[in-house]
Amino acid sequence: MQIDERTLQTFGDSLGRCNGNPAFIERFYEIFLASSPKVKEKFARTDFVRQRAALRASLDHMLLAAKDPKANPQQYLHDLSERHSSRQLNIGAELYDLWLDSLLATVKEFDPQNSPDVQEAWEKVMMAGISYLLSRY
Ligand code: HEM
Repeated sequence: MQIDERTLQTFGDSLGRCNGNPAFIERFYEIFLASSPKVKEKFARTDFVRQRAALRASLDHMLLAAKDPKANPQQYLHDLSERHSSRQLNIGAELYDLWLDSLLATVKEFDPQNSPDVQEAWEKVMMAGISYLLSRY
């Protein structure tokens, strides 16, 4: 899927504003873990200091993968897809719905310029990456 330049720009700007607040990723995990006992269980043994840094980096990878569909998302998302697949963490599609909803709710709280456009940009860019991960499940 090709994502237009304006959407990528809107997403990148919003990500920058959200990352400007150090509590952004922490709040995301708070919302995500509360979204279902299934999610909480998956993260039962997680070191969240490490996990928060990993997620922050992976949001950049999601943007790179969406920017460059011709170069194929694999170079950015291969390890992530393997880790979340049925062969390892076994993260099914229904959990990605909760992931995306939690992320959008966090952006709404943290981006002072949140708007329907901003929400749509996050959804489009994240869905490009999520589709790739699910295709490798
Ligand atoms: C596109 C969406 C997602 C992204 C970008 C993402 C990102 C990441 C990253 C970067 C890691 C660390 C990988 C490593 O270096 O070990 C990770 C691990 C993990 N993710 Fe995801 N994730 C996503 C969706 C999900 C979903 C939907 C779940 C469902 C519960 C989930 C559960 C986990 C778990 C359990 C770990 C391992 C934590 C640990 O090491 O204890 N992820 N994820």
